[in-house]
Amino acid sequence: EQNNFSEIIAHCKEYGYIFPSSEIYDGLSAVYDYGQNGAQLKKNIRDYWWKSMTQLHENIVGIDAAIFMHPLTWKASGHVDNFSDPMIDNKDSKKRYRVDHLIESHAEKLAFEGKKEEEFALLKSMDELLSKDDFGGLKNLIEQNKIKCEVSGTANWTDIRQFNLMFSTEFGSSVSGNEEDNKVYLRPETAQGIFVNFLNVQKTGRMKIPFGIAQTGKAFRNEIVARQFIFRMREFEQMEMQFFVKPGTEMEWYNYWKTERLKWHESLGIPAEKLRYHDHVKLAHYANAAVDIEFEFPFGFKELEGIHSRTDFDLKQHQELSKKKLQYFDNDLKEDGKPIGNYIPYVVETSVGLDRLFLTVISVAYANEKWTKEDGTEDSRVVLRIPAKIAPYKLAILPLVKKDGLPEIAKQLMNECKQSFHTFYEEKDSIGKRYRRMDAIGTPFCVTIDHQTKEDNTVTIRYRDTMMQERISLAEVKSILMEKIN
Ligand code: GAP
Repeated sequence: EQNNFSEIIAHCKEYGYIFPSSEIYDGLSAVYDYGQNGAQLKKNIRDYWWKSMTQLHENIVGIDAAIFMHPLTWKASGHVDNFSDPMIDNKDSKKRYRVDHLIESHAEKLAFEGKKEEEFALLKSMDELLSKDDFGGLKNLIEQNKIKCEVSGTANWTDIRQFNLMFSTEFGSSVSGNEEDNKVYLRPETAQGIFVNFLNVQKTGRMKIPFGIAQTGKAFRNEIVARQFIFRMREFEQMEMQFFVKPGTEMEWYNYWKTERLKWHESLGIPAEKLRYHDHVKLAHYANAAVDIEFEFPFGFKELEGIHSRTDFDLKQHQELSKKKLQYFDNDLKEDGKPIGNYIPYVVETSVGLDRLFLTVISVAYANEKWTKEDGTEDSRVVLRIPAKIAPYKLAILPLVKKDGLPEIAKQLMNECKQSFHTFYEEKDSIGKRYRRMDAIGTPFCVTIDHQTKEDNTVTIRYRDTMMQERISLAEVKSILMEKIN
């Protein structure tokens, strides 16, 4: 499986999906750039999420808040005080590790050696100590297990301490000389942009509870062990939705979104057996219930999306620090003639990483296929079976040869189609090579214009997934495609 993962990473680079950031300078750790096909796929996934959240739910609207926010936002949300991970440094190599990652990778080694019971005991002790923030105990655990640094091979560790994951920078130049005064953070989650705009949206949109606010955008975390390609990055994109509900109804909505979001992932072609729920035992400081939707990545089941019942924690905190009322007021709600619609709503949040979902889609789509042909010879291809509705290109238009008027017919078809969906034109190389290239990029349909087209106005359509071909009418290409991609 790990082998398959290296193939996927190489494939993403070779076909313009993902490049290491600033590659000519040897890259920047845990930062990646999306290439011509990657950017389009990412946009299509984002659009699909946005449409299913906003257009398909009349009580959910979307916003686009700034990455920079008033520094008190992060004090209120708890990120200044709590958004940190326990870290340990190796004194010889000067390498820093997140304590849980260091212990987990040792546990993985034990598993490889067949020491299942030791692995289990180690992870169990780690969970217990982490939930109590027992740093002394964790350091003992590392020492007892003689966990070594992968670089220096020594077990010479510092004490464990908390390390905040937020990036900060300064606004303007410091007048007071005190840089802390000008300090601003790059948001570590998009959610807070929604909380601080809760009343703006509710009032201007005349929203009635229950209602939701959706947003997609960049978030930044100074991840210490950033690894596994785009699974854990320092700069990434989130797609979050905050659903505001009446206190006391949050568990009902929590269960609703838990089910809805799993179904949504399945609608993207992710097989049900590769998805599972993982209920949180240790809850974040803001939650009264939390579950992850996990996907079986090439390196095992890992979090793809988080669904949290966040209570009124965030709005209450913002109300306290901003000294502005953040209450919902529903005049129509009365009991015994008295208004009862005045309260701080509870929030159920759905939060999925766009890059992680991208990796999920690519992992499901990627296949390295080999087969024996009818004449007994071997054949192979690498194909990305990306669902047509989110594939970067929907249709490739290929004139069989570069003469006899075939390119002209192809270009005319392209002009007809390109207003409606993304098309790809290619006239170089043999038709077989062009098909393979489209398979590797994940283009679901190819249409070939040949000499017969000039006689009877038909073309060959080739299907990526089955490699089957059939002849269809040139005039119907656009409408057939429109039907297949929707
Ligand atoms: N507002 C809640 C929140 O931010 P989270 O579980 O910390 O919750 C939500 O993050 C999602 O964001 C995760 O499920 C994951 O998909 C994505 N995510 C978090 N950190 C990430 C990172 N360093 N790189 C890529 N995606 C990340």
